[in-house]
Amino acid sequence: MRKYFIAGNWKMHKTVSEATALATELVAELKGGPNKYMIAPTFTSLDAVSKIVKGTNILLGAQNMSTDEQGAHTGEVSPLQLKDLGVQVVILGHSERRHTYKEDDTMINKKVKLALSHGFEVILCVGELLEEREAGKAEAVCEEQTRKGLAGVSADELKKVTIAYEPVWAIGTGKTATPEDADAIHAFIRKVITSMYSASAAEQMIIQYGGSMNAGNAEALLAKENIDGGLIGGAALKAETFKPIALCK
Ligand code: 13P
Repeated sequence: MRKYFIAGNWKMHKTVSEATALATELVAELKGGPNKYMIAPTFTSLDAVSKIVKGTNILLGAQNMSTDEQGAHTGEVSPLQLKDLGVQVVILGHSERRHTYKEDDTMINKKVKLALSHGFEVILCVGELLEEREAGKAEAVCEEQTRKGLAGVSADELKKVTIAYEPVWAIGTGKTATPEDADAIHAFIRKVITSMYSASAAEQMIIQYGGSMNAGNAEALLAKENIDGGLIGGAALKAETFKPIALCK
């Protein structure tokens, strides 16, 4: 039985004091909660939030990471710097990174391998655009992003990888994939993992859903066999909207 992994991606929201306040509330509300948890504040709030979640059941996540350990990379943040702040999980290949900031699969794969080599857990995001879904290419896009994102990742390293299926058309739009549609893609991604690794690796793989997940639809999504958690944006920005998802069993 896979345990749900409920993760909040705070994107570019919250000042340090706002992030501190939310993290403090979540530590109290999720104490003893039934699932695995992570919150990913902006880089500027990582230090403050790290001190709050340290030693609790909430992991500290970063929303991105550089392809390199150090050097002339203006504006980037290195794995060494993230480790220094107590970061445990790194979100990579988010659709906003892919589409707004033009990160391609080669770059994302480099980041995935670097993050794993430094002992981080990785949430690798995959998902199709609306036009790709309408053209019947959702599976092909997710397969390519999964295969290329995980190229060169060993079976042992894969144990530290979570895949987040985030259909781009459902992110921040209020449109959610139906539980059936999402489950079908999750099952398909599991098949891709079987073909790349093994049936047991696929069985153990945590596959989160992301895209307008909220207190009203989380239970139906999580009830599906292949949906093992959520990567939550908007609804992760307040304890009162994150908590009902986080406490789903
Ligand atoms: P929303 O929950 O705001 O749609 O965002 C999903 C997401 O992109 C999480 O990474």
